[in-house]
Amino acid sequence: MTFTSQQYLHALAPIDKVIDAFIEDEKSSNTDVWSIQSQGRFADLLASSPDASPDLSNTDIKIECDDIEFLPSEKYVQKLMKRYTTRLEMEGKELEDNNLASLVCHFSMSQISKLPDPADSCLLTYQVPCRDLSRQMKHDLLRIRIYPHHNDVGVAKVWEAGACLAEYLMQYPECVRGLSCIEIGAGVGLTGFIAAAVGAKSVHMTDYTDATLENLIYNVSINNEWLGDRGIDTDTVSIGNLEWGEYAEHDCCSHPADVLIAADVVYTVECIPDLVATVSKFLSSGSSTNAKVALFATTYRNRSTFALFERELEKKRIMCAYKSQDKMPYVFPCYFNQPRSDVRICTMTLSE
Ligand SMILES: C[S@@+](CC[C@H](N)C(=O)[O-])C[C@H]1O[C@@H](n2cnc3c(N)ncnc32)[C@H](O)[C@@H]1O
Repeated sequence: MTFTSQQYLHALAPIDKVIDAFIEDEKSSNTDVWSIQSQGRFADLLASSPDASPDLSNTDIKIECDDIEFLPSEKYVQKLMKRYTTRLEMEGKELEDNNLASLVCHFSMSQISKLPDPADSCLLTYQVPCRDLSRQMKHDLLRIRIYPHHNDVGVAKVWEAGACLAEYLMQYPECVRGLSCIEIGAGVGLTGFIAAAVGAKSVHMTDYTDATLENLIYNVSINNEWLGDRGIDTDTVSIGNLEWGEYAEHDCCSHPADVLIAADVVYTVECIPDLVATVSKFLSSGSSTNAKVALFATTYRNRSTFALFERELEKKRIMCAYKSQDKMPYVFPCYFNQPRSDVRICTMTLSE
C-alpha cells in the first residue's frame, strides 16, 4: 500500500518518508520534481490548514485539506524544510526561490503552532497505592490529561513503556529516592509524577513540542493537591523544554540531575543519534565518585531501530544492564496496543 505525501504528513511520518512520497507524487504527475511549481506545492502542503486552505484556484494542485486535523509542529516543519533543501543540494539543484524556506516556516509557524482544543481531551485517573498508610488522602486519584485523537505522541496517551517504568519505580523506589531526576520525552507526565511520589528529591520533566509542554504544565497544576497529600512539595516537580541533541550541544542546557529517566523514546531511527548524544552528555557530566545513571524503558517494536540504538550506545561507550521485570505491580491499566512483555527496562552507565 502506498501513501501520498499528504497522508504521510497528516500522520507525521518520518521526514524522509514524507519527502520521498512528495517526490513520488510529483513523478506520477509527470512534472519536474525540482521545479518551482513543485516547491510551491510543497509549500502549500506544509502551510495548508483547515482554517487557512491555500488558494488553489489558479493551479493544477489537487490537495484535499479538509481532513488534516493535526498539523505538524513548527520544529517538524523546520526539519522537513532543512532536509528537503539538503536533498536539493545533493541532487545539484538550486532552490529556485530563495525565500521559499523562510516563507514556509513563517506560514507554518503562524498557522500550525495551535495547541489542541481542551474539548478534545480526557482525563485518566489512577489510584496509586501510598506506602505511608498513616497519611490522610483527600485527593487519592492521580489525574492525567490526554488527547487520545491527537497525532502528537507526547499528548496522545500514556505509552506502555511509561506505565511500566512508573510501576518499576514503585517496585524499586531506591532508583530515584533522595535523588534529583531529569526525565526526557516525558509526554503526559505519569512516570515523572510517580518518581516524585516514590521519593525523588526533584523531578524535572522535559519534552519539546508546544502541545506536550502545555499539557505537562496543566497536568502538574491539577495534581498539586495529590502531591501535597503525599507530603511532596509542589516545587519538587518542574517542567522544561529539552529537545534531544540540543541538550547534547549546549552546556548551558545541562541539568544537574543524578538520574535520567526516559520511557518509550526509542521509536524513530532519525532521533536515535540525538537521543544517544543527550544520554551520553548527561552521563559524562558526572564525576567518577558520583557516577550518573540513566534508566530507560523501551518498547521493542522494530528490530533494526533497536539494533541502531544499541550500536549508537556502544559507540558512546554506554553500557546497558537489563532488569528483570518479574513480580512487577500492575497499577496503570491503560488500554495497551503493545504487550508489556515488549517493554525492556535497563540502566545505562558509562563504561570505565
Ligand atoms: C512515545 S512518547 C513517550 C511519552 C512518555 N514518556 C510515555 O511513556 O508515556 C515519546 C516522547 O518523546 C518526545 N520526543 C520525541 N522526539 C523528541 C526530541 N527530539 N526531543 C525531545 N523530546 C522528543 C515526544 O514529544 C514524546 O513525548
